[in-house]
Amino acid sequence: MAKPVAIEVYNPNGKYRVVSTKPMPGTRWINLLTDQGCRVEICHLKKTILSVEDIIDLIGNRCDGVIGQLTEDWGETLFSALSKAGGKAFSNMAVGYNNVDVEAANKYGIAVGNTPGVLTETTAELAASLSLAAARRIVEADGFMRGGLYEGWLPHLFVGNLLKGQTVGVIGAGRIGSAYARMMVEGFKMNLIYFDLYQSTRLEKFVTAYGQFLKANGEQPVTWKRASSMEEVLRDADLISLHPVLDKTTYHLVNKERLAMMKKEAILVNCSRGPVIDEEALVNHLRENPMFRVGLDVFEEEPFMKPGLADMKNAIVVPHIASASKWTREGMATLAALNVVGRIKGYPIWSDPNRVDPFLNENASPPNASPSIVNSKALGLPVSKL
Ligand code: GLV
Repeated sequence: MAKPVAIEVYNPNGKYRVVSTKPMPGTRWINLLTDQGCRVEICHLKKTILSVEDIIDLIGNRCDGVIGQLTEDWGETLFSALSKAGGKAFSNMAVGYNNVDVEAANKYGIAVGNTPGVLTETTAELAASLSLAAARRIVEADGFMRGGLYEGWLPHLFVGNLLKGQTVGVIGAGRIGSAYARMMVEGFKMNLIYFDLYQSTRLEKFVTAYGQFLKANGEQPVTWKRASSMEEVLRDADLISLHPVLDKTTYHLVNKERLAMMKKEAILVNCSRGPVIDEEALVNHLRENPMFRVGLDVFEEEPFMKPGLADMKNAIVVPHIASASKWTREGMATLAALNVVGRIKGYPIWSDPNRVDPFLNENASPPNASPSIVNSKALGLPVSKL
């Protein structure tokens, strides 16, 4: 059993006990909880990934709600422990919730929150950063400079790919995929090909209008295409960014066979979840195709990388930081806290998790609602009229 851990307590006499398994950015989330009568306990254990046992200790005998992290395994054991402690709500401080067994939460009547909307642009910006860094070999070139290897300008030095006029492929054109697509089309005048089970009419309209604007200004218009299969995107695009949710259908979506379909000089970016790519197959592909480049924010077995990946010059690797802008991370903490307190207080569920701005306005009180509860329907929770 893990032993009691360093806990920071706010509003010790608060009526409801809310635990955060990690310190989170900003203070607004703490104030919002204490203002609504919560005693807030923040775990400061110096261990990055908490085990199920650690979290059981944190939950203790009485706990109304928990704010947790995507690194934690929220399944039957934790939901049963939270339910026994009188808990009503858990929120991930993340939009993705593949670490949560929602069926188990349903069984114990526990609401599961996530934090959509606030991280859309931030995550898309990181995917765009990785795209540019890979296309222009920024990290390799930086290492070269720092290594004292630069002896003067050369025609062949770190030649990369021009994005303008090339095709960007987006797999999963939801909130983040669409924001990324717009950035690459508008910023770099790339043509778009996307694959999604749902048509993204707004995205198509945007690219059409932007193409018309360019044409009216005497420039080459951009184009879009909704692919009928993921393979079509892999074959046609020069730069591909992955934005699906991780579930059984998207596990190893990019495998050896599909990597082989891509252009030899293509760029692949992943800011979704690591297991969407077969990382071992990717390492082999990178080894065999030195002009193929990859930008990865997520890994199959975080925090580890598959053997060989760290040695590949054609790979850029960053530690799952796609949502790491100050505004976004503070906003995620706020949404997660409001998900939990909203459920504890019996508030309804916000009707549109894509429109969370009213919760993020620091100069006003947030609406009395939980911003985003993914199992609200299964639990039959009422929806806000606002
Ligand atoms: C981060 O990966 C998130 O899902 O919010």
